[in-house]
Amino acid sequence: MFPFLYHNWKSKSIRGIVHSMRILAIETSCDETAICLLEATETPAGVEFCVINNITHTQLEHVEFGGVFPAIAKREHLINLPIILDQIMKDQEKPDVICVTNGPGLEPALWCGIVFAKELGAKWNIPVVPVNHMEGHVLSVLVPPLLAGEARDTLGGVRFEFQNNIQFPALALLISGGHTELVLVNNIGDYKIIGKTRDDAVGEAFDKVGRMMNLPYPGGPEISKLADQFSSEKKLELPRPMLHTKDYDFSFSGLKTAVLYHIQSLGETINDQDKQEIAHEFQHAVADVLIKKTNKAIEEFGVQTLIIGGGVAASKFIINSFQENLNKNFPETKLLAPTKGLTGDNALMIALAGYFKIQKNPDAIYNVDDIKAVGNLSL
Ligand code: KG4
Ligand code: ZN
Repeated sequence: MFPFLYHNWKSKSIRGIVHSMRILAIETSCDETAICLLEATETPAGVEFCVINNITHTQLEHVEFGGVFPAIAKREHLINLPIILDQIMKDQEKPDVICVTNGPGLEPALWCGIVFAKELGAKWNIPVVPVNHMEGHVLSVLVPPLLAGEARDTLGGVRFEFQNNIQFPALALLISGGHTELVLVNNIGDYKIIGKTRDDAVGEAFDKVGRMMNLPYPGGPEISKLADQFSSEKKLELPRPMLHTKDYDFSFSGLKTAVLYHIQSLGETINDQDKQEIAHEFQHAVADVLIKKTNKAIEEFGVQTLIIGGGVAASKFIINSFQENLNKNFPETKLLAPTKGLTGDNALMIALAGYFKIQKNPDAIYNVDDIKAVGNLSL
């Protein structure tokens, strides 16, 4: 491997790792403990990535509580990080650099990954680079579909050439349990948040509505399944909050409350068909609001590529609704969503975001003492 310019690991330039770089990425922002070992090799054609190993462990300990408990997330990260690291590093040489999510996310959870990364950086005498979790979600669409279905497991030796499938300006709609953001992507590494939720995140609203109907946690996939079963004529009309406001912000708490009132009005008489109708109409209300605001931004900024990332991007209904909308209203705009297994939190996306951060600014020095968990870190 190529030498570093600086020899104090606490403040080391990344320049020097030129032709080939092994990145160990660590992601602990919420309830997935994820580590990835990614090798990036410069080729005459560009760069080739090899996912040496990639493990995402979803903490099931939260399921019985119907939501993520920060103290439990922290405990489980602390238990699982060393176990996953052993699996990832089995028969591998030490990496060249560590990339770790430093926000946004749950601070106690983020700290687990950060402290772990710092200790490894010291042990291996390699630099530690903080990475923004949301940038990871944006760049998760760079992984081609060839990894479909496998990406949550160890991906020994899977290779893919980097092909920039994102045409700029692009727009990223990031929808997860913790975030709902519309981000203007002028280039890789050049982002501007133009809108966000004023209250609940989309995934959070899915989960809360799921809980109101006594569905298992997380509610999102359960609501999708229920909605697909609805085949009668729809009578329920839920509100589409902030549909006509001039900004790009969202609000989902009113929609959630409307569902609550409806469920209360049904009382004990609520049956399976009522639940299916609620799920169906709720999904449509969410999609209508997301699409309306996104369309406004596509038009205003002349968006070439629409990226949809985050856990809720696993919803076929949401993705299909966006695709139909683009076909009808913006046929020139291409839709990119992460391949299966990379919609939710994972460390492969953090390794990719880390790689491009290093490429953009190879002389940057990240003093480990300055790397801190920032719960509301912005892009
Ligand atoms: O990105 P993610 O794994 O974690 C966060 O950073 O929050 O997203 C998890 C969220 C949960 O709220 C979950 O209910 C939602 O993604 N989700 C879905 C679906 N699959 C997961 N929401 C709607 N439909 C789905 N199929
Ligand atoms: Zn996330």
